[in-house]
Amino acid sequence: MSNKIYKLSDPSGKTSAPPLREGTLGPATLDIATLYRDLEIFTFDPGFVATASCESKITFIDGEKGVLLYRGYPVEQLAEKSSFLEVAYLILYGELPTNIQFEAFSNSIKRHSMVNEAVLRFFTGFHYDAHPMAMLTAVVGSLSAFYHDSTDIHNPKHREVFAHRIISKMPTLAAAVYKHGTGQPFVYPKNELGYCDNFLNMLFSVPAEPYHVDPVSAEALDLLFILHADHEQNASTSTVRLAGSSGTNPYAAIAAGIATLWGPAHGGANEAVLNMLKEIGDVKNIDKAIAKAKDKNAGFRLMGFGHRVYKNYDPRAKIIRATCHKVLQKLGRADDPQLELALRLEEIALKDEYFIEKKLYPNVDFYSGIIYRALGIPVHMMTVLFAIARTVGWVAHWQEMIADPHMKIGRPRQLYTGTAKRDYMEIGKRI
Ligand code: CMC
Repeated sequence: MSNKIYKLSDPSGKTSAPPLREGTLGPATLDIATLYRDLEIFTFDPGFVATASCESKITFIDGEKGVLLYRGYPVEQLAEKSSFLEVAYLILYGELPTNIQFEAFSNSIKRHSMVNEAVLRFFTGFHYDAHPMAMLTAVVGSLSAFYHDSTDIHNPKHREVFAHRIISKMPTLAAAVYKHGTGQPFVYPKNELGYCDNFLNMLFSVPAEPYHVDPVSAEALDLLFILHADHEQNASTSTVRLAGSSGTNPYAAIAAGIATLWGPAHGGANEAVLNMLKEIGDVKNIDKAIAKAKDKNAGFRLMGFGHRVYKNYDPRAKIIRATCHKVLQKLGRADDPQLELALRLEEIALKDEYFIEKKLYPNVDFYSGIIYRALGIPVHMMTVLFAIARTVGWVAHWQEMIADPHMKIGRPRQLYTGTAKRDYMEIGKRI
């Protein structure tokens, strides 16, 4: 608690003194939970622009400075030195693992990689051209019909089994989504492979010929997964928390998060960026695209630009941008015209008064799709890859919320502006 006192009073003389709570980092937070009781008023903040929806110890963002910390560790250090599974352990358990802890964790994640065959049969109900995110939402939701041995959300062991299961099964389901769209047979997981190697093998191998995972591709994917693993109370994570706060089945809560991630203002932006770059087509059309993004009547935004929290360069975008050239070079795609186009678009936008004044910088989705494409991932699969990585964050936040003895169901209030009370009128009397 801070010793600064904020006092509110209404014309009748009633007062409220909401306590100011200090976190470890970031702005202090006015705890307004008693405001309605004291003054009979609500607060109004659509989009949660200045509202902390919960207390959390997992991830910290300083949007003004472009800082992102997972459990206190700068994302730059983790990107350089760690691995996705190690970061997953860190995010879930709060500390980096010892050798013994890491071995036990990665073995557990590997062992849960298969899904019940009945889940795979669900795919026959989808058209070949169903959007991968539609299929992923549905099949992850359907997991709530399985695994009844571990659905007591108040049992920490059950929660842990759920966490390992979903993190392990996401690549298997994501690859199945892709295989269904291509008409190729599903490929079963191979537990001797690493997390990303296994995923690439399930995506791209076919029974007819041998397939060797390119270590450059697996390494690039691992990096992208680290950068997407968590991002505090973003829309999909908040959705998982809200859904989970009713005590629902955790697979159902994760499915709600996947559905939220799909939107182009959130994770769907990685797909939208590549579609936009394709539409712009050539460096000579950039000025026209920038003018359109500034025109409020055009209904067009520069995808992969801007962020609710970052008013500076998104640190994840900075890392991906720096990695892009290296990865593309190693994969023999150094002359990718879309990378040149993206770099030029960024350069022009960052010098434009509109983008400067509104502090609009490239976000994580601006360059990630270019790497995904170089790995052979089709554009409509890109948000699915985001979902695999973000599952770690969703699960960690769900765990943190359920383990909190003060957890409450999420239930926002509203400012009602509809019709006041009125009486029913018989149909013949209405005009
Ligand atoms: N292109 C053009 N103008 C923009 C853009 C953009 N990409 N982003 C924001 N603006 C303008 C917006 O029109 C508004 O102008 P004004 O103040 O004159 O009305 C101002 O900047 C503030 O925008 P906002 O929509 O009020 O800001 P927000 O915090 O509600 O939205 C955002 C954040 C990410 C939804 C938005 O910047 C956006 O739509 N960006 C493009 C989509 C995108 O890249 N999304 C990925 C986000 S990062 C990854 C993730 O979350 O998964």
